[in-house]
Amino acid sequence: MVDKPINLYEYEALAKELMPKPEWDFVEGGATDEITISRTRQALDSIMLRPRMLVDMDVRDLSTTVLGERIDFPLMMCPAGHHNRAHADAELATVRAACAADVGMILSSGSSVVMEDVAGAATRKIWFQQYFYRDREITELMAHRADDSGYSALCITLDASVRSKRERNLRNNYSIPASPNYDGLKVSPGFAPSSDDAPAAFSGMISPKVTWDEFSWLASKTDLPLVAKGVMTAEDGRLAVENGVKAIIVSNHGGRSLDSTFATIEALPEVVDAVDGRAEIYLDGGIRRGSDILKALALGARAVLIGRPMFWGLAVNGEEGLRHIIQILRDEFESTMGLCGKPDIASIDRSVIGTVSPLM
Ligand SMILES: Cc1cc2nc3c(=O)[nH]c(=O)nc-3n(C[C@H](O)[C@H](O)[C@H](O)COP(=O)(O)O)c2cc1C
Repeated sequence: MVDKPINLYEYEALAKELMPKPEWDFVEGGATDEITISRTRQALDSIMLRPRMLVDMDVRDLSTTVLGERIDFPLMMCPAGHHNRAHADAELATVRAACAADVGMILSSGSSVVMEDVAGAATRKIWFQQYFYRDREITELMAHRADDSGYSALCITLDASVRSKRERNLRNNYSIPASPNYDGLKVSPGFAPSSDDAPAAFSGMISPKVTWDEFSWLASKTDLPLVAKGVMTAEDGRLAVENGVKAIIVSNHGGRSLDSTFATIEALPEVVDAVDGRAEIYLDGGIRRGSDILKALALGARAVLIGRPMFWGLAVNGEEGLRHIIQILRDEFESTMGLCGKPDIASIDRSVIGTVSPLM
């Protein structure tokens, strides 16, 4: 076992050693055969780069903006529940690490630290993620709490409203307490949970019934810009824009919801083409190397997000571990940009990638 990890995979291996197996399985696992998890990585690995030489690389600028907010390089922390499964400081460690690195963060409504406290620990703008709940009063209430406590955008996750089958959690008989964000809320009884590990009381709250016009309704209740997470097709990209969404996260939920979907990097081009510049587009799923960030940007993403690597960093060394994970990605991204002859974000375009070797 290495004691000083130098890349995200070494963090993953260390975290696996350190975390109890059921917790590890909760973080690492996905739906049914986990085909989507492996495909999401394989597709990124299959993209080859076309570097250009003798470009002036003296000054390099990795920074960009997401919904008008500057970030140091095109990275955000995924909304992911229950960071306390990896470290006792939980989302407080995550928000400190993200803010120190000046990258984005989307706090999950399933956080183990209450959303107001995480907002209080933030030293830069962060966003909040929630669902369309069965009870519109809860949807509105969560949105208002996000606004009141200083979150600057509202991300709605679309791909978890129907129960998924996560077999590792079933095998481990795994369950998790509900997030304190839901303390005191009245929950309608008797609804089926939407995933195996989610507490029934919470996941039964997500509406399996709402359609795209729910975005228009929510936009009439909050001034926060709305972000749609879980878009995987051109059709849904178009509908998101038509219903007022300002940004889209191309995501397959890290292979934790529907199995046998395309890799997100495969879905990205059709969403980018359909949206045609009318909303910002980000991508998550399998981002483990700086070169993955460059590949996603080349195919039209404005930024990427990491999910599981947050837990690896936290499990290995809390806030410091996650800061190191972010620094590794930054260093790798900067090096990849430099070696490809791309001095800044605007210079990254489709010409830097080829999907198929000319010899194959
Ligand atoms: C432990 C865990 C919890 C998650 N919880 C949420 C959540 O509460 N809301 C959400 O929208 N996505 C959730 N996700 C999905 C992530 O936001 C993201 O889509 C996915 O993890 C990205 O893939 P990656 O883990 O390969 O980076 C979760 C992912 C993990 C690993």
